[in-house]
Amino acid sequence: MTEQVLVAKGISKSFALENREIAVLKDIFLEVRQGEFVAIMGKSGSGKSTLLSILAGLDQPSSGKVVLNGDDLTTMSEEDLALKRQSDIGFVFQSFHLIPTLTVRENIEFPLNIARQQNDERVNELISAVELSHRENSFPHQLSGGEKQRTALARALVSKPQILFADEPTGNLDGKNAEQVLSLLLDLQQASNTALVVVTHDPGLAKRADRTITIVDGQLL
Ligand SMILES: Nc1ncnc2c1ncn2[C@@H]1O[C@H](COP(=O)(O)OP(=O)(O)OP(=O)(O)O)[C@@H](O)[C@H]1O
Ligand SMILES: [Mg+2]
Repeated sequence: MTEQVLVAKGISKSFALENREIAVLKDIFLEVRQGEFVAIMGKSGSGKSTLLSILAGLDQPSSGKVVLNGDDLTTMSEEDLALKRQSDIGFVFQSFHLIPTLTVRENIEFPLNIARQQNDERVNELISAVELSHRENSFPHQLSGGEKQRTALARALVSKPQILFADEPTGNLDGKNAEQVLSLLLDLQQASNTALVVVTHDPGLAKRADRTITIVDGQLL
């Protein structure tokens, strides 16, 4: 049996809205194994992005715990959590989130710089894997959507995370670019045996996952 990378137990999340509490996630349980590809589907507003942010340690649940490689993200200090995110977690956003003043190469190197590491071999390997060798000195505003997302994908993988989260990674791309980003994402994930959790509206993508979970009104179906 393969090892579990992530175990989330009893995840609930409420937001205060005016003078009411809105329960967005209700008692969610989820396990992800090493190298596994899990797709998360569900209607707009069902809580997919909220769940992904909590699983990745970008947001805290109102109750429950998220255990990544044996460490509970919900009880760690901010400092330890930041280190854990750097070393074990990759995240790809729908809207790319590149740093506008850095080139493609510098964006991809950025997580290594933050961790005071250097690994030119790894950076070169990823730049070539995402087919951006001819664009490595370009800035984000000079790139197409597909090129931006390929840069973001390389950046998310540069530290060899145990798990990669992607929130509608192809949501801002047209059909051809979406397909290219997707196949690179899956090739890189399989080559490195990284666990992958993707939020998607695309049934074609969900079909390629090992497992699909659906959220309805904050609960797993
Ligand atoms: N910071 C917040 N404060 C209050 N309500 C919030 C906050 N963040 C999210 N919500 C609410 O939580 C619900 C779930 O939001 P979430 O972004 O997780 O949905 P989603 O499934 O990702 O939707 P979409 O498919 O449109 O991206 C929504 O009703 C949203 O308005
Ligand atoms: Mg969302």
